[in-house]
Amino acid sequence: MARIHLATGLLATLSLISGGWAAPASLNIVGRDVALFANYDYIIVGGGTSGLTVADRLTEDADKTVLVIESGNLDDQEDSVLVPGLAGGTGKKYMYNMTCEPQPGINNRTYSFLAAHVVGGGTVVNGQAFDRGSRGDYDLWEALGNQGWGWEGLLPYFKKSETFTPSPPEIVKEWGIEYDRSAHGFKGPVMSSMPTYYYPAMKFVFKAWKQLGIPYSRDGTNGNALGAFYFSNSVDPVTRTRSYARTAHYEPVKGRPNLHLLTGQTVTKLVIEGKKASAVKFASSPTASTTTISAKKEIILAAGSGHTPQILQLSGIGPKTLLKSLGIPVVVDLPGVGANFQDHPSYYTAGLFTNDMNPSPANMSNATYAAEMLALYKYNRTGPYSSGFGTAAAFLTLPEIANKTRVSSLLNLIQRQDPSAHFPANTDATVIAGYKFQRTLLTSFMASGRIAVSENAFSALPGMLNSLQKPFSRGSIAINSTDPFANPVVDYRIFSNPADVEIFVDMIKSFRRVVGMPALKDLGPIITNPDPATVKSDEEIRAAIRANVVPTLAHPSCTCAMMKREHGGVVDAQLKVYGVKGLSIVDASVIPLIPATHLSSTVYAVAEKAADIIKARA
Ligand SMILES: Cc1cc2nc3c(=O)[nH]c(=O)nc-3n(C[C@H](O)[C@H](O)[C@H](O)COP(=O)(O)OP(=O)(O)OC[C@H]3O[C@@H](n4cnc5c(N)ncnc54)[C@H](O)[C@@H]3O)c2cc1C
Ligand SMILES: *[C@@H]1O[C@H](CO)[C@@H](O)[C@H](O)[C@H]1NC(C)=O
Ligand SMILES: *[C@@H]1O[C@H](CO)[C@@H](O)[C@H](O)[C@H]1NC(C)=O
Ligand SMILES: *[C@@H]1O[C@H](CO)[C@@H](O)[C@H](O)[C@H]1NC(C)=O
Ligand SMILES: *[C@@H]1O[C@H](CO)[C@@H](O)[C@H](O)[C@H]1NC(C)=O
Ligand SMILES: *[C@@H]1O[C@H](CO)[C@@H](O)[C@H](O)[C@H]1NC(C)=O
Ligand SMILES: *[C@@H]1O[C@H](CO)[C@@H](O)[C@H](O)[C@H]1NC(C)=O
Ligand SMILES: *[C@@H]1O[C@H](CO)[C@@H](O)[C@H](O)[C@H]1NC(C)=O
Repeated sequence: MARIHLATGLLATLSLISGGWAAPASLNIVGRDVALFANYDYIIVGGGTSGLTVADRLTEDADKTVLVIESGNLDDQEDSVLVPGLAGGTGKKYMYNMTCEPQPGINNRTYSFLAAHVVGGGTVVNGQAFDRGSRGDYDLWEALGNQGWGWEGLLPYFKKSETFTPSPPEIVKEWGIEYDRSAHGFKGPVMSSMPTYYYPAMKFVFKAWKQLGIPYSRDGTNGNALGAFYFSNSVDPVTRTRSYARTAHYEPVKGRPNLHLLTGQTVTKLVIEGKKASAVKFASSPTASTTTISAKKEIILAAGSGHTPQILQLSGIGPKTLLKSLGIPVVVDLPGVGANFQDHPSYYTAGLFTNDMNPSPANMSNATYAAEMLALYKYNRTGPYSSGFGTAAAFLTLPEIANKTRVSSLLNLIQRQDPSAHFPANTDATVIAGYKFQRTLLTSFMASGRIAVSENAFSALPGMLNSLQKPFSRGSIAINSTDPFANPVVDYRIFSNPADVEIFVDMIKSFRRVVGMPALKDLGPIITNPDPATVKSDEEIRAAIRANVVPTLAHPSCTCAMMKREHGGVVDAQLKVYGVKGLSIVDASVIPLIPATHLSSTVYAVAEKAADIIKARA
């Protein structure tokens, strides 16, 4: 293997491309006037949420060198990144341009694959909802054979990752929003703060949940994320700007001489010598020349749930039939790479209050009002722009959305299925075995109400986000080209298991029930989608679901699952990739079962724990 000596070689290479001397700055070692080191202790692939977290922790030891290679660039810290209420305003600027395969389960519609492409990753573009799953969500991970990854094992890392700021006294007084001190951290890098602005009708929506019999959880981050609760945003409590992986885990430590961040460089392949991952190859574009740099200790994959499996497959680690079909030499036959793909299928139901309170979210469509509120934010850091879109939700268990008869018929339907029935014909037996094990645990946790199956994120409106939290369908991520700059093929396979549609039917009925509660009567709620006038029978509800549900809540996960190898797992409980040395994964792809929560706080906690695990084997 012709390895380039980086201190000089890379510069020489680049000077060939540009036709002249390339200053180190052209390498985009951010903020450094030095060349790359000849090698590093650790190379982290992907400078997103998990990658920057792990880089920060590993470089706490001044004797360890870390190179982070990120395909995107730094964000411009424009308003649509920093102002909580403008989230989403950067559109695709910091995202991959990817579309999934047509999905038969939703009338062959396609949809975006939502993945960030920027330093800081998903936390640059996300909605800043900063909740956690329930105890049961994480205890499922441990029950799958991952010792130390249950709620008790993760709680210290949730705490370590955050600095929590509770609601200010005037909000507590008016809204009764409490918090559980024992669940929080107060010294961590990510700012997690309770919003200081709520629309008045929100109180009535909370009352409606109570009338429906859904408990109020005083703090959904203490392991009890079941019921209705207010949650925090990843927002700085003082500046009321986004707190994200860049501000939490890069800016404060970027001066460390042992931390190098390279941007605009895409890792194209891992170099594996004698079953040990020894180096990575990267390039800035399909036409630029490739550079190789080696890691003395470990290569750590943090490229996200869509791209970590892509890099593995390109490097010969994946399902052997796939690799062979593309002429890629098989290094490790690992059928789980890209399998077990999960997300949260979501129905954005719509409606309005005909007798709304003042102000209401609808006022924001009045451009004059919106401009006034933005000016207020700029001047005083208050008002609707000071908080993220998601500030409250109800997470419901199966027994809360369906009666006893219906719960047992749903669980029977699932348990009676041949576990291979809803997978593609060529699926490896280990992947099916893993799914079967997941199914046994899932149905048991569901029956006992230990986990939520449904999220209703709500604002002061009758329309809500209805999101399936524990799908039984499994999708896949698979390369169809050896070109590392080509997108991998994303197939959500949403509703490939018909049980998911059935649970969704009960979710829609439950959503309609809460909107019909007496607490909302005076506000005159009208649901416009799914329209109760035309969507009545179960069959009509199913049709509305297939016509409206989107396959993702931007929570792609589980594509390199932490499970036993005989269960289609890709990493062990120490996050080491099976069958090869010196290679671990730390991003959302290692999650074995998607938790009932927005993912970012979980990704931070997983990465914090990952860093400790990696340090411990140093
Ligand atoms: C639009 C959107 C909205 C969301 N809303 C919320 C929310 O409100 N609340 C919440 O909790 N969660 C939300 N999430 C989810 C959450 O932000 C993500 O789950 C989390 O950030 C994922 O972290 P990660 O480390 O797994 O991957 P990422 O943060 O995506 O990092 C992966 C990084 O790897 C880089 N990369 C990929 N391939 C390569 C390569 N070959 N070479 C080099 N670099 C590479 C990418 O550019 C990216 O920066 C949202 C996500 C998105 C995209
Ligand atoms: C996104 O990809 C599509 C098709 O692959 C292409 O037509 C479109 O121009 C791309 N958009 C951007 C902004 O790159
Ligand atoms: C989806 O596409 C497949 C293949 O083209 C076709 O057989 C099927 O009828 C389509 N389904 C719908 C609902 O249009
Ligand atoms: C909000 O909109 C309603 C309905 O148009 C209007 O009556 C009310 O005055 C508006 N409130 C503000 C603060 O603009
Ligand atoms: C729009 O907002 C402006 C400023 O608050 C207000 O004066 C006006 O009445 C609003 N218009 C409507 C239709 O609510
Ligand atoms: C400005 O913020 C303070 C608290 O931070 C608040 O008391 C005050 O009402 C705000 N001003 C306006 C005009 O909203
Ligand atoms: C239980 O729910 C099912 C389906 O939602 C309904 O058909 C049935 O009548 C309900 N049974 C009882 C006893 O309420
Ligand atoms: C790979 O799949 C994508 C998406 O389905 C398609 O556009 C592309 O043409 C395929 N590439 C190859 C080489 O088959």
